[in-house]
Amino acid sequence: MLRTIGATALTVTAVVVMGLTLPAASPSAAVDTVDVPTYNVDTPTYNEHIGQLLFDNCASCHRPNQIAPMSLLSYQDARKWARAIKAKVVAREMPPWFADPEFGEFSNDISLSDEEIATIVEWVDGGAPEGDGAAPQAPRFSEAGWSHPSGREPDFIYEFPIEWQVDADGESPNFNLFTELPFDEEIRVEATEVRPGNYAATHHIVTRLFNIPPGMMIGTGPAWPGGPVVDYVLVEDPDYVEPEDDEDSEDSEDAEDVGEASSAGFGAYIPGVGAAVTPQGQMRSIRGDAFNAIVWNLHYQATGQPETARPAIGVWFATEEATTVSRTLSLQETTSEGEQLVAPPPAGIFGRLAAGLRAQAGQGLNPLLDPIPPNEGNWTVTGIGAIQNDSYIQSLFVHAHLRGKDFTFVLTYPDGREEILLRVENYSFDWQFSYDLAEPIMAPAGSTVKVISRYDNSRANRRNPAPHREVYWSEQSWDDMFLTNITYTLVEEDRPIAQD
Ligand code: HEC
Repeated sequence: MLRTIGATALTVTAVVVMGLTLPAASPSAAVDTVDVPTYNVDTPTYNEHIGQLLFDNCASCHRPNQIAPMSLLSYQDARKWARAIKAKVVAREMPPWFADPEFGEFSNDISLSDEEIATIVEWVDGGAPEGDGAAPQAPRFSEAGWSHPSGREPDFIYEFPIEWQVDADGESPNFNLFTELPFDEEIRVEATEVRPGNYAATHHIVTRLFNIPPGMMIGTGPAWPGGPVVDYVLVEDPDYVEPEDDEDSEDSEDAEDVGEASSAGFGAYIPGVGAAVTPQGQMRSIRGDAFNAIVWNLHYQATGQPETARPAIGVWFATEEATTVSRTLSLQETTSEGEQLVAPPPAGIFGRLAAGLRAQAGQGLNPLLDPIPPNEGNWTVTGIGAIQNDSYIQSLFVHAHLRGKDFTFVLTYPDGREEILLRVENYSFDWQFSYDLAEPIMAPAGSTVKVISRYDNSRANRRNPAPHREVYWSEQSWDDMFLTNITYTLVEEDRPIAQD
């Protein structure tokens, strides 16, 4: 029952298998066991069982230049971390995954089954052997750390022009910087990814296409009211002359309101999210012809030492065969309990900008959404989106902050039938995944998708920084957010690739 690592000879010592002590088999078979550790042949091995498990469920983060502290791409790496791996998987802290297994199947599910956890435990308890044969082929990843599943480097990388300096301590607000769009045509992309340039110091980055409103320009100014003076800030254009034509007066009023300027998502970095890749045959359209700038919504966090961060957007162009456009529907909040209204956005250019950007982003940040009352453990906000055309639902996304508790996505068909698409339990601000459906779900025109979101502002929520406070809705992490959407394609556009 025993053999030496790297040799085939049998050994003779008694061996504990599944808690049973077995008698030694044949004393005369004792050879060659002096220096090498022994393991039970029933013990799972890295080469046969564990390597692939780690590649499939851990390597997206545990590889060089990525968010996790160590790489798990080789036997040597995995062996060094064997005890910690056991502890984390048994505690179900790793890999992070929050979908209730009862509802929906997801192609990007990285959770481990009970049997897989048991296999890892047996492997570690059995001395974390490498085993015979060859190690499984490690997945190919971009050397720079990009996350396209093919391992390809992006076709086009746009780096933010300056390094941002993050102070060693203190709260850093959420703010916007602006750069000109580096292309002026529509580009069709298969995937985009925003990399922060500094994982530890970055809370999030959201990039959107943007139109600089008339009367404003990219220039030098405070990054936020009272913040450091830097380049790439939106400032008033001193040379701007307001059109005098009376007939245009409505237009110029509109121009005053930056909320009118349209914008569209480009890509985001939040912990746990790698490249946003469309399924095969699909693409996203990035309308360089309709926008002239990128707004970088940046939020940094202190690490205890001064840091620099220079984010970049990577783009993988769509192939010729991609015909179907992947679209996003934001599920806007429709109800919340309580009475009070949130404070209006602050006056002045920053307030208007913030309100305008949120409205454009379709982030569901309705300024009339009631705040979460102090000590409220089950505050419910319901968001709903109407399916206007026969659609395939591809993917579901939810974003909240420290009070986010659980989220349930319900599809209601036109005949009233309901189906739970996803239940996110024990939502964690640290990990914000999109949940990609293993099989797209057909939602006929007239269906709705509802997300019932619960927030815990009580003391029972151990991450709650201030249960005694009312919680408002904003991008600051001490406030909370309701940002949920689905990605879908139109059935009529979803032609077989070969037909084109
Ligand atoms: C989505 C990204 C992600 C995935 C997938 C992931 N991890 Fe992690 N892991 C992290 C990050 C980030 C940390 C460090 C912060 C933390 O502990 O939460 C970490 C920490 C750990 C640690 C603790 C390291 C230490 O310093 O003590 C272990 C052990 C670990 N992961 C094992 C695993 C294993 C095993 C898997 C797969 C079965 C896995 N992780 C999957 C991101 C990930």
